[in-house]
Amino acid sequence: MNSEFNKRHINELRHLINKYDSAYYGRGESLISDKEYDELYKELSNLEQQHPEYDSPDSPTRRVGSDLTKVFPKVRHSVPMMSIDNTYSAEEVREWVVRMEKTLSGSEIRFTGELKLDGVACSLVYEDGRLVRAVTRGDGVVGDEVTANVRTIRSIPLVVDYKDPFEVRGEIYMTFKKFSALNASIVENGQKPMQNPRNTTAGTLKLQDPTEVASRNLSFSAYFLLGGESSGHHENLKLLEKLGFPVVVHSPVLSSGDEIIAFCKKWEADRHTLSFPVDGVVIKVDSFEQQQFLGSTSKSPRWIIAYKYQPEKALTEVENIESNVGRTGVVTPIARLSPVFLAGTTIKNATLHNYDEIERLGIRVGDCVEIEKGGEIIPKVIKVDMSKRPSNSVEFKPPLQCPSCGSHLERLEKEVALRCLNKTCPAQIFATLEHFVSRSAMDVRGMGPAVIKQLLDNRLIYDAADLYTLTEERIANLERMAEKSASNAVSALEESKKRPLDRLIHGLGIRMIGAKAARDLAFFVDDISDLYTVSAEDLEKIDGFGSTMAQSVRLFFDREENRNMMERLRSAGLNLKGEKGTAQKDGKAAGLTFVLTGTLEKYTREHASKIIMDEGGKVSSSVSKKTDYMLAGAEAGSKLDKAISLGVKVIDEAEFERMFS
Ligand code: IVH
Repeated sequence: MNSEFNKRHINELRHLINKYDSAYYGRGESLISDKEYDELYKELSNLEQQHPEYDSPDSPTRRVGSDLTKVFPKVRHSVPMMSIDNTYSAEEVREWVVRMEKTLSGSEIRFTGELKLDGVACSLVYEDGRLVRAVTRGDGVVGDEVTANVRTIRSIPLVVDYKDPFEVRGEIYMTFKKFSALNASIVENGQKPMQNPRNTTAGTLKLQDPTEVASRNLSFSAYFLLGGESSGHHENLKLLEKLGFPVVVHSPVLSSGDEIIAFCKKWEADRHTLSFPVDGVVIKVDSFEQQQFLGSTSKSPRWIIAYKYQPEKALTEVENIESNVGRTGVVTPIARLSPVFLAGTTIKNATLHNYDEIERLGIRVGDCVEIEKGGEIIPKVIKVDMSKRPSNSVEFKPPLQCPSCGSHLERLEKEVALRCLNKTCPAQIFATLEHFVSRSAMDVRGMGPAVIKQLLDNRLIYDAADLYTLTEERIANLERMAEKSASNAVSALEESKKRPLDRLIHGLGIRMIGAKAARDLAFFVDDISDLYTVSAEDLEKIDGFGSTMAQSVRLFFDREENRNMMERLRSAGLNLKGEKGTAQKDGKAAGLTFVLTGTLEKYTREHASKIIMDEGGKVSSSVSKKTDYMLAGAEAGSKLDKAISLGVKVIDEAEFERMFS
C-alpha cells in the first residue's frame, strides 16, 4: 500500500470515528455496533502505530493519551469566567425578572432556562476547527490547562466543522452511575470513598495520567459560546448542538416571570429523574445586546441568575449497624434505618463505607441522624443529632471477626477497609456467585440471591461451575422451591451458556475487571485459556489496562483452582471462545446482519444491538444487499426506503421480540 493511501485511510478512519463518537456521546445515538466500532478503532490505532509520521493530536485514539503532565500550566482566560448570583427563593427570581424589565425599560425580554449542572466549569478553545486548549475555571481569571485530560472526554468533539476561532464553556461532570461504580470499586479495594460526583470530577481533571481520567468516564455539557454570529444565547446553543457538542438541558425561549417560575418548579420536582447531579436552574437573558446593557457587578453578570435547590435531607433513627462482606472480602458497615421518605424513595439503609466513617461521625445504634442523597444510589449519613442521643446508647465497636466465617479481620497496609482474607468465606462465595448470575454478567434469571443462598447452605454448589451441574430434582428439593421455579432456573442456566465470553469474564468478579475491561479481554483472546499464560506485560498492551489490572488478571488465572473452574465451565458447554476466535455460531442471529433505524420504543439501540450480537449476529450502520433484516422504529427515514428498494426484510419491534424470545 502506498503512503498516500495510508494517509488518506487514516484520515477517513479518524473522521468516521469522530463522527460516531459525536453521535454516541453527544446525542446518545449508535450509528454502528460496538463491535464494528472497536474494529475501526483497532484498525486506526494499528495504522497509527505503523505510521507515526501521520500522528495528530486530533486523532480519536489520542483521547486516551498517555502523555504525563506533571504540572498544569496556568492560562489566562480570554474573558473572565465569572460566577453566578444565586438565590434559594422563587420570590427572588421573580424580583430579578421585574428588575430586568425595569432596567430594560419595558422592552421585550426573552429568557432561557437551563439546568445548573453540579460539576466543574471548563473552557474549551477551538482554532481552525480543532480543540487546542481546555482550561479549568481556576480563580476565574487564570485556570489550569488540562487539555490532555479533557481530550479523554468522549462527548467533547476534537474536530468541528467551524473554522473561525471560538470558545465553548460548559460543565464537566460525572453521572451518578459512574460515581457509584467508581466508589464501589474504591471501597472493594479497601480505599476511602469519594465524597460526591463534583469533588470526584475536580480531582479526576487534576490526575496526572490521562488513561486513568479516561477510565472515569466524565461527561460534558456546553452552556455558553464565545464567538459565532448569533444575536442571542438561544441561537448559540443551537449552533453548539449543530457542531456536535452536548448542550445543557434547556427550555424553549421563556418570556414571562410565570413561565420562568414554572420552569424552575418543574425541574425542582423532576430533578430526581436525572442521571447526573443538578443543583438548580440557571436563567439567562437571551439577547446579547440586552446582556451588554445590563453589564456585571464585580463578581457576576446581572443578566443571569441561578435558582438553587435545597439539598434534600431527612432525619431518621439508626436501628442497627450491620456488616456486609463483599466479593473481595472487604467488610463494610451498613446502617439500618427507620424507613423515611427522601428524594422520591423510601430509605431503609445508608452506606457508611468503612468503620473510620462511623468513628468520624460518632454514630451509635439508636442515634437520630441526618441523611442526604449525594449521588450515591443509597444515601449517606451526614451527621448525628446529639441532642436526641438516648442516654443508654453505647459506642459502636468495629467487628474483630468476619460476620460470616469468623476469621480474624485484617486491615491491610494503606487501606482503611477491614478484610476477611479467607478465600473460602461463605459470604465472599455468596457475593461472587450473586455477581456471576447478575444481569450485567451471566444474567441467569430465576437464580436470585435467595436461591443461591439455599444452594450454598445445602452444599449443592461451591463455585460458579457447580451451578451447571444442577438438575431440576436437586433444586426442587430446596425449601419453598416450586417445581416450576426449579425448571425455570435450570432452563435459565442452560440459556446462559450461550453468553459471550466477555459476560463470563465479567461474572468472574476479578478485581478491577469490570464490564468494559472484560470486553477488552474477550476481544484480546482466541480462547479463555490464552489468559492462563499471557504475561502481565502483554496484558498491559490492551488499551486502558494499567499494571494493577494486568496483575489482577494474572493473580486470578495463576490460581490452579480458577483454571480448573474454567475447564469445568467448558465441559458444561459454556462459550469460552473470545472475539478474536470463533464468533457465536449457533445463536438465533448467527450469520445474520441487522440494521437498526428510527426510534425504538422498547429498546435502546445499544440494547437491541446487544441482543443481536449475543445471538451471534452483526449490526451494521448502512443498508446494503448484504443486510438480512432491518429493525425499523417510528419515524424511520431514508434508510428504510433504501431497505425496501433493496428487498431487505423489514421487521418491527414486536417481530424482533418474537425472533429472540
Ligand atoms: S453560565 C457568567 N450555565 O455554575 C457565568 N453556568 O455557580 C457563566 N453552571 O461556574 C456560567 N450549569 O460552572 C452557566 N447552565 C449553566 C450552568 C452553569 C452549571 C456552573 C458553572 C458556574 C457555576 C456557578
